Amino acid sequence: MTSEVSSFRFHHPSRLRRSVLTVPAINDRAMEKVASLDCDAVIFDLEDAVAEDRKADARSKLLNFLQKSDLGHRECIIRINAADTPYFREDMALVLEALPNAVLLPKVEEPVTIQDVADMLGEHDAAEGLRIWAMIETPRGVLNAAAIASSGRTSDSRLDAFVVGLNDLRKATVIPAEPGRTYLVSYLMQIVLAARAYGLDVIDSVSNDFRDMEALAAECAQGRAMGFDGKMLIHPAQIEPSNHHFGPSAAAIAEARLVADAFANPAHAGLNVINIDGRMIERLHAEEATRLLAKVALITARKDKP
Ligand code: COA
Ligand code: MG
Repeated sequence: MTSEVSSFRFHHPSRLRRSVLTVPAINDRAMEKVASLDCDAVIFDLEDAVAEDRKADARSKLLNFLQKSDLGHRECIIRINAADTPYFREDMALVLEALPNAVLLPKVEEPVTIQDVADMLGEHDAAEGLRIWAMIETPRGVLNAAAIASSGRTSDSRLDAFVVGLNDLRKATVIPAEPGRTYLVSYLMQIVLAARAYGLDVIDSVSNDFRDMEALAAECAQGRAMGFDGKMLIHPAQIEPSNHHFGPSAAAIAEARLVADAFANPAHAGLNVINIDGRMIERLHAEEATRLLAKVALITARKDKP
């Protein structure tokens, strides 16, 4: 039996998820690199980045790597193959042994997919901290995004984040790749809205062209403007631009300090609406400011560590 959580988890940046680098679990050399890269999270991929006849090899490389490695501040996620593939059971066994921060499920189209994996984790007494992330990357996944996100309302669902997969979505929708993602924006916004409605984080899709830094910057800025928390990345060169665009700007930090200070001022005690230089600032802006400053503190703390 699942029970409803009475209030949604406040969208608090306990974790930074600006840059979510994916690494094929078959690639030892790339895996060895990740602990020296300034990404917030790493997705070790057992799915599309690994050929069918190398899945077992990838699993053992990954387990061996994770058992001997310290990823430091980087969140560790394993992307497994879907439940209707012959690889799923063994991938899940690996997850239960490696105990990453999250398991990323590909091509999620129904809430039951989340619940089935949550049940498996529960049956194996996996700690609460082992979360579920879901790829939304098919037309049915987009159409059902709200229902899938709402499965995060049950206390044992473990659902934490959506990751958009545009390579699959473009293939299925026959929408060509083009700068600006014009005809995909409405799908992306539906996914963001569904995530926000149920307190999930939401990560934008990869950019395939990892040498085109101008295109990446534009896509990061667009993703940030659409409300994404961060971006899935395929190459180390994409980390810095993604951290920059999805991190708070200097102007946003200055504004947050101004708002937080104004509400902390005893002269404004008991007021929900105040005037700062001719602008109406509400207490909700102070909450936003606090959230942003917490993110800044996390980024600053990170800089002090290797
Ligand atoms: N994570 C960690 N290190 C990576 C990396 C990644 N995702 N991608 C590349 N690197 C490393 C390379 O190993 C290389 O290291 P080296 O100089 O010590 O050899 C360095 O970064 C430069 O790489 P580069 O030569 O520019 O590219 P490449 O040909 O080695 O790799 C890709 C290009 C696309 C094959 C590779 O980036 C990749 O596999 N990305 C992830 C793809 C993926 O997971 N797709 C599925 C989900 S969409
Ligand atoms: Mg995919």
